[in-house]
Formats: sequence, C-alpha cells, structure tokens
Amino acid sequence: MYTDFGYMEEGKLGKPYDLKLMARLGKFLKPYWGLMTLSLLFVLIMAGLDLLIPYLTKEAIDRYIVVAAREVVLREDGSPEEHRFWSQYGQKLIPKKEKGKFLLPPDVMQSMDRKEMALFQKFGFLTENRYYLFVPQKPEEESILKKYPSFFEGSDSHWFISLHRMKELKREDLLVLRGKDVAGVFHIALLVVLILVINFGLNFSQVYAMELAGQKMMHDLRMKAFSHLQELPVSFFDKNPVGRLVTRLTNDIQNVHEMFTSVLINLLKDILLLIGIIILLLQLNRDLALVSFSVLPLIFVTTLFFSRRAREAFREIRLKIAQMNSFFHENFSGIKVVQLFRREKENSRRFEKVNDGYYLANMKQISIYAFFVPLVDILSSGAIGLLLWYGGGKVIQEMITLGVLVAFLSYIRMFFQPIRDLSEKYNILQSAMASLERIFSLLDEDKKIFKPPSPKKEEMKGNIEFHHVSFSYNGEDKVLKDVSFSVREGETVAIVGATGAGKTSLLHLLERFYEVEEGAILIDGMDIREWDITQLRSQIGLVMQETFLFAGDIEENIRLENRKIDGEKVKEVAQVANAEKFIQRLPHGYRTNVGEGGETLSAGEKQLLAFARALSINPKVLILDEATSHVDPEKERLIQEGLARLLKGRTAIVIAHRLSTIQHADKIVVLHKGRVREIGTHAELMVEKGIYFRLYQLQFGIKEDRGQRLEG
Ligand SMILES: Nc1ncnc2c1ncn2[C@@H]1O[C@H](COP(=O)(O)OP(=O)(O)O)[C@@H](O)[C@H]1O
Ligand SMILES: [Mg+2]
Repeated sequence: MYTDFGYMEEGKLGKPYDLKLMARLGKFLKPYWGLMTLSLLFVLIMAGLDLLIPYLTKEAIDRYIVVAAREVVLREDGSPEEHRFWSQYGQKLIPKKEKGKFLLPPDVMQSMDRKEMALFQKFGFLTENRYYLFVPQKPEEESILKKYPSFFEGSDSHWFISLHRMKELKREDLLVLRGKDVAGVFHIALLVVLILVINFGLNFSQVYAMELAGQKMMHDLRMKAFSHLQELPVSFFDKNPVGRLVTRLTNDIQNVHEMFTSVLINLLKDILLLIGIIILLLQLNRDLALVSFSVLPLIFVTTLFFSRRAREAFREIRLKIAQMNSFFHENFSGIKVVQLFRREKENSRRFEKVNDGYYLANMKQISIYAFFVPLVDILSSGAIGLLLWYGGGKVIQEMITLGVLVAFLSYIRMFFQPIRDLSEKYNILQSAMASLERIFSLLDEDKKIFKPPSPKKEEMKGNIEFHHVSFSYNGEDKVLKDVSFSVREGETVAIVGATGAGKTSLLHLLERFYEVEEGAILIDGMDIREWDITQLRSQIGLVMQETFLFAGDIEENIRLENRKIDGEKVKEVAQVANAEKFIQRLPHGYRTNVGEGGETLSAGEKQLLAFARALSINPKVLILDEATSHVDPEKERLIQEGLARLLKGRTAIVIAHRLSTIQHADKIVVLHKGRVREIGTHAELMVEKGIYFRLYQLQFGIKEDRGQRLEG
C-alpha cells in the first residue's frame, strides 16, 4: 500500500483539444507572434511546393515523355460530328499527303475536352495511328531526315514519323530527334531539385523559428510557474508534495512544448495539404478523384474506433507511470527504513507488480498501434489499387493522360501520410491538454498572503504580543486556542510544552508562514500583517528543529542571500555559534561543499550552522525552536555562553526540551494542547506546582521532597 505522492493526477487525460486552454497558452505566445507568423508562412509555402511536385511530374510525362500526334481521317460527307470537329479544330490540323488525312498535334489534343475526344474516337475519325511531330532546326536534325528517308513524311515545316517506325531508329538518332523533349524533362527535373532545395531551407528556417518561439515560451512559462510557486503560502506545500511540483515544472511543460512543436504547426500543414490535395484531384479529374476518395469513410470509421482505443490505452499507461513514480518516490525516500526492516524482497515483489502493469499497458498500446498503422496502410494501398485499376483503364481509353494518373498516385500517397501520423499526434495533444490544465491550475493557485496597502518597513524594536491567537492548519482542528502572552524588547521568553502542544505553530505564525485565524500578533504595537513581509522576516532570525542545507559551501550556507556580510563576519558568527571548530576540521574549511552531493554533516553540526546563519542577519528578534536538541550538553553550554552575549539587546523566544537551558529566561510560557496554561519565571512556576513543576521533576528524575536541594 503506497500513497500516490500526488502522481496519480498524472494519469488523468484531457480532451484532445480545449480551446479555453489554448487561448490561455496563446497569451504566453503573444510576445513571439512574429516568429510564429514567420513559421506559419514558411509552412504555407512548403505545403504549396509539396503539392507542386506531382504536378510537375504530370507535366513532364504529358508534355515531353508521352507525346504523339494522332491521325484524323475526315470524309466530306461525314457525320455532323465530323463537321463540328472540322470547324472547331480544322485550322490547327496538319495535312498529310493523302487527301482527307490529317494529324492532330499533341498540344491541341491536350487542350481538348477528354469526353469530347472519346466521342470523336467512337465515331472513328480520330484514329489510333500515332505520329511523332518533328520540326528540324539544327543541321544534325536535318541529317536524321536524310539518314532515314523512308521513315519520315511531311513538308518543310512539319515532319512526322509513325511511332512504330520511331522504334527502329538508332538510339543516338532517337535522342537527336527528341532533343527538345529530353531538354524539357531535364528542365523539369531541375525545377524539382530546386524546389527540394528551397524546401530544405524553408524547413530549416521554419523549425528554427518555431523552436525559438516554443523554447522561449516554455522558458517564460517555467519562470512564471517557479516564481509563482515560491510565493505561495507554506500551507500549499503541505498539500502538494514536491515530487508533484517537480513534474509540473518539467514533464508537463515538456508535454506542452512537444504539442507546440510537433503538432500545432504540422497539423496546420497537414490540414492544408489534405485540402489542397482534395481540390487539386477534383480539378485534375473528378471521376478519378471520387474513386480515390471512396475509401475515406472507411478510414474515418477506423480512425474513430482507433482513437477511442488509443485514448484508453494511453490513459492506462499514464496511470501506471504515475504508480511507478510514486513507488520509486516512497521506496527511495524511505530507504533507511526499507533496509532496516529488510523490506527489499517484499518491495521488489511489489515493484514487479507495478512494473508488470506498466509493461502490459505499453504492450496494449503497441498492439493497438500495430493494428491501426498497417490498417491505414492497407486502406491506402486499397485506394491506390483502385486508382490503378480505374485510372489505368481510363488511360487506356485515352480518357485521361498517363501524367494525370501518375500525379494522382503521388497525391494519394501524400494524402494518406498525415492520416497515418494522426494517431501519434492525437496522443501528444491529449497529454498536452492535461498538462496545460495542471500548469494553469498551479498558476491559478491563490497567493492568499495579505498585502497591506502601505506596509510598515521600520526598524524593529522587538516588542511581541500574542493577542488571543487561534489557529488551525486544516480549518477545523485548532492547534492554538486563544493564546495570549507578550515578550518585551530585550527579553528572553521560553516556551515549553509536550510534543504537539503547538510550540512550533506559534513560530509559523510569527514568521507568517501561515496566517493567524483569530486574534492577532503585534510587533511594536502593530499587527504583523501590516508589516512588510520581507522586513518582518529579515528581522526575526529563526533556528528550526531541522536545518536545511543548500548545495554550496559552508560560507554560502551561512551567508545565504545576505551578500552584505563579508567572510570575516561569517567567521565571527560561526565563532559565536561555536561552529568554528568543526568547520576547521572539514577538508576545505569554509569552502567545503555541503548540501546535496556534498560533505555530510551531523544533525548537531547542521544546527550549529543554522545558528551562525540566523546570527548573520543580525536580527532584532531571535527564535530558537528546539535548536539545541541535537547538540551535546557540552556544546549546548558553549552555545549558551555565546548566546548570552548575543541575546543582549535582542528579543528572544526559546523553545527547549531541556528545561535546564531555560531556567534563566525572563518568562516561561507553558503551552498545553494549544492553550497557555502557565506563565511566570522559573521560581514562580516551581512554586505554583503545576505542569511546569511536573515536567521539571520528570526530567530530573527527582522526588518532590528533594526538589529544593537540586534546584540550586
Ligand atoms: N503543516 C501542518 N499541517 C497540519 N498539521 C500540522 C502541521 N504542523 C503541525 N501540525 C499539527 O499541529 C499540532 C501542533 O504541532 P507543533 O506546533 O509542531 O507542535 P510542537 O512544536 O509543540 O511539537 C500537532 O498536532 C501537529 O500534528
Ligand atoms: Mg515543534
């Protein structure tokens, strides 16, 4: 049984798109709209250029590769069709030697309506005899005519050769004959290469511009989330474990970035391509286009079915990852307990279960994808097969040119690629939406800390008063009830009480980690909420039960952000705190790295450091929360000596377990279950024979009658 450490939320999925969230993300994109527009423009051009290539292929085939003039045989008493043909195209026909026979040049044929052509063919005057038209210009072209006198027919300007005959020409002669076609194909090929080069450049610029915008946006988002988090009240961190917040700032933002770069713009490009292809195909040939699109409903149904399944599988994977994360977290943050209680085997067994779950979820997703992608492939192959069959027939019937069919095949291939990729993009979109939602809910988290209109920024004197203070962490269970006591400037007040009595909570309120619910805390007669919070905290030094070390050396850890103090001062406060001795024993003295990955200090040593740290800001008020609990009695005495000097002129609140250390306090406040039960000096409270008296006896293990003797 493990807690989820807040990772379970990771298992939730968003809608594949959510316009509200996108609009909010748009705000972060606003500064980079220039880059975005540029990127978008590049995408548009690229899509256009992509569409151009199959078209150029078609042109190469129809204009230069497969070209033939067709023979037309017209009779004077022909059908009305023949007359119509003559009146429409007669001017453009090239007469043959035999009467009534003409050649229909390929460029005229290209411009003719295909249905009409089929009709002319049906009436028989447009024959199947094909010729290659030839207009010799260069001497080597002329020489071909002389070399094969029986092959060519025609007159000065137009020569032609039947396609059968052309096959008998020698290869090099054929190349001379068709020199113009070869050059044409070469030019188109050159154009295609040029387009590819331009596309490469555009692609690079587009990715660069988009990544620049994307990375900058993520940078801003992280910055914003980080600074927002830092200012949230401590109570927020009670509810939100660090692991979860780390995920927000890393994984979630990464997810959004991925959506941004790999989906958004590409999706636009894909949509443009799809629309472009549909329009182009319909323009090229409506019938053929409709045949090609006949598989689309099937694709649609498949995609719909798939997206449901994929979503399920994806959700499961996220859930299993979340389980795994929290398992890791728990296992390794409690590694000492795990090893101490020999739970390694048991935990391995449990991990195996979680790990298996993750593996199975992944396999499930893979099998869904392994089904979907080939299915789309089959459907697209089906479309291509259909196209070949239907279109091929049309080419044979001369209803369409070969070039059109080839272009169609290319376009259909282009058409299915984005559909194939859709599955992947769908996933990315979903997880990004869920991530976005989590990031924004983090940003929406209220800072809740009251900010006065004109915060007090004065030097603090150090008069503290708790005035009927009540407080609860969860809004229900009061951990402090009607607490009232005061500490005058320069006084040392001790707070004693059992564990859980609420001592630390008092300090939380004083430092404004949490806000007082009822009553008020006054400093120099002014509600602490009216103080500037930075001013307040910088004048109240706090040494806590647990000392946190940042990654850095000893000196940095004492000085923290307080750059005003120099190395000398750091040494001075370390001396006062009696930390000097152990620091000198460290391998690099004040330059020894501590904190994560650095030298490990004992709890006592850390406390001495914390003392030095608190003293370094030269606070008006010093609070020690069981600060000497990890220090041995001898050191404690040393610290006390140093402190006695330092506490002069300062207000101090000291929480201590060992009552021996607080006997000289000006006042002792006894806290019991959140209430102040006794207030007085040591002598007064001993006389009172209340809680303090009993605590004292317990600690010193004395019987009531011997109390007097030991006290002195
Ligand atoms: N961050 C917190 N969230 C919720 N309850 C808390 C929190 N910190 C302390 N408590 C509860 O408040 C009560 C008083 O705790 P605390 O002030 O730390 O006692 P003491 O320092 O006297 O041992 C305890 O019952 C404790 O469980
Ligand atoms: Mg405490």
